[in-house]
Amino acid sequence: LKSSPPDPRALAGLGVAVLFEKPSLRTRASFEFGLARLGAHPAVFELAPNRIGERESVKDYAMNLERWCNAIVARVFDHGVLEEMARHASVPVVNALSDREHPCQALADLLTIRESLGTLAGKRLAYVGDGNNVCHSLMLGAASVGLSVTVVTPDGHGPAEEFVAAARERVDETGANVRVTHEPDGVRGHDVVYTDTWVSMGEDGAKAKWFEPFRVDESLMSIAGDGIDGEPIFMHCLPATRGREVSAGVIDGPASVVYDQAENRMHAQNALMLALLGRG
Ligand code: CP
Ligand code: NVA
Repeated sequence: LKSSPPDPRALAGLGVAVLFEKPSLRTRASFEFGLARLGAHPAVFELAPNRIGERESVKDYAMNLERWCNAIVARVFDHGVLEEMARHASVPVVNALSDREHPCQALADLLTIRESLGTLAGKRLAYVGDGNNVCHSLMLGAASVGLSVTVVTPDGHGPAEEFVAAARERVDETGANVRVTHEPDGVRGHDVVYTDTWVSMGEDGAKAKWFEPFRVDESLMSIAGDGIDGEPIFMHCLPATRGREVSAGVIDGPASVVYDQAENRMHAQNALMLALLGRG
């Protein structure tokens, strides 16, 4: 879909509700422009500060929307809301970020790594910082395609154990490995260094103090490159805070592929929407 533009009528006549309980630039733009490219009609609902399930039940939300549209894409605080919508809706429900996962981001990230490194299987990714929604989905996605993952995170801020276990189950088939370490030099020998904000949307900023030794700066990038062929690439789902989780020199430097990641959100999600809604 990226190398040859899709059929602009591939999803003609279909409608998609795109719901946001939280702010967004990339997710909103990539779904809205992406669906328009496929001929579908996205209807974007900026719900903040309201939440799904407040004015009427999650069930009623789902059972109304399904009467008008062919899929629901939703960014929510509580992952349980997505699960409840999916239980009640007869149309696909796509996670556009929840407190637990950000799978559309992970799809775009895998595409970006494959473009940058030529392959996924056998490569090594270090995720540095908070073991959050982005980390969870990246671990699952990477493990599924044989990309090894090391999560480099302060003690007490690692990924949820169930995601580590689920990722490990997947690598049993691919031969990759999944590790969690609390030492910043755990980045040594990785082809990809990935970080995200230290404080996710809706969280208390006090936790940021634990992450200082885990800033991705020039020194951490040079440790990461020890023992690999070539230099590691740098990734971030964005939005980023320069000088906090990443130095300006790294995110604005030659190793950074962050804007490719952002562009690839659209291509990866269009592939997803075609897989869910396409007529063959
Ligand atoms: N990466 C990402 O999901 O960005 P937005 O929060 O801007 O959608
Ligand atoms: N972990 C971040 C990702 C933003 C795209 C958050 O949930 O705010």
